[in-house]
Amino acid sequence: MSDRKRVFSGIQPTGNIHLGNYLGAVKNWVAAQDEKENYFCIVDLHSLTLPQDPQELRFQTRSLGAMLLAAGIDPRKSTLFIQSHVTAHAEACWLLNCVTPLGWLQRMTQFKDKSARQESVLTGLLDYPVLMAGDILLYDAHEVPVGDDQKQHVELARDIAQRFNSLFGEEFFVVPEPKIPAVGARVMGLDDPTVKMSKSYAHIRGHAVRLLDEPAEIMRSFKRAVTDSGREIIFSDDPEKAGVNNLLGIYKAITGKPEAAVLADFAHARGYGDLKKGVAEVVIDMLAPIRQRYDQLMQDPAELDSLLAVGAGQAAAVAMPKLARMKEAMGLVLPPSPAGG
Ligand code: TRP
Repeated sequence: MSDRKRVFSGIQPTGNIHLGNYLGAVKNWVAAQDEKENYFCIVDLHSLTLPQDPQELRFQTRSLGAMLLAAGIDPRKSTLFIQSHVTAHAEACWLLNCVTPLGWLQRMTQFKDKSARQESVLTGLLDYPVLMAGDILLYDAHEVPVGDDQKQHVELARDIAQRFNSLFGEEFFVVPEPKIPAVGARVMGLDDPTVKMSKSYAHIRGHAVRLLDEPAEIMRSFKRAVTDSGREIIFSDDPEKAGVNNLLGIYKAITGKPEAAVLADFAHARGYGDLKKGVAEVVIDMLAPIRQRYDQLMQDPAELDSLLAVGAGQAAAVAMPKLARMKEAMGLVLPPSPAGG
């Protein structure tokens, strides 16, 4: 094991990855690949906790893999894999179920919210946080980058780890820490710059720029972006200027230029039309190679699958031995190993 900190990130294979996700999160993951030992797991088993269309789930899972690779997750530096490819996850969930009191799960706010919206609540939905605890604990991850909505689940994973440790051996599992990730850039909706750009509204025309949008569509979305009735191109936290501020923020995040240099680039703009066009152009240029690589991978399933298989192999090399140690600690008889060793 290397002495770099282990980080485990779980990502749901839902579609509609957009500019806000990219600038706010994915770009940071790509940049941080050298600092820490990263596991990026596409959590398809978690998706099954709500009813799914099988074709759609399969497509979204592979599409997310291709997207993350295209965006710069480098399989030589990080481990990117599909959760269901490493059978230890489902097995660890069972073992951890048997140390987790039901009451802990019934108290989870996400379970209460999601189950209130379902006519028939699946057992998997209740068990979702135990599967997630298994994801994390199998790798002895130190850090788990999550948004606010997932913090309670990471805290539950800590409770489960501590209970397992007290039952079966102190220091068996690393007790993970939730990390609210440093936000790269907070990108707001183009149609409403007072709300964060969101996957849930990504289907609404003009709200989000999806990573796979065609250049002409991206230009159109920016041209329709909501601004204000003035003409001042400035960074500002005045709610009135939220639209212009958002456009400048996107430009700043992509070019990496300081604010003064960003403003200098628009010093000769004749109104917001030029601003919108300038921002759209840097977005289009940034996304072009990502799209191209994504299309290549989606058209070459063998290449995509082999990259994901390498990731699954690396993940399994950590997770399977840990699973065996869990079984042993809990009193299960291990089968003789095939090599006899
Ligand atoms: N529940 C997380 C979400 O919805 C996804 C997830 C599954 C996860 N397993 C994980 C996140 C393990 C971090 C660690 O975002």
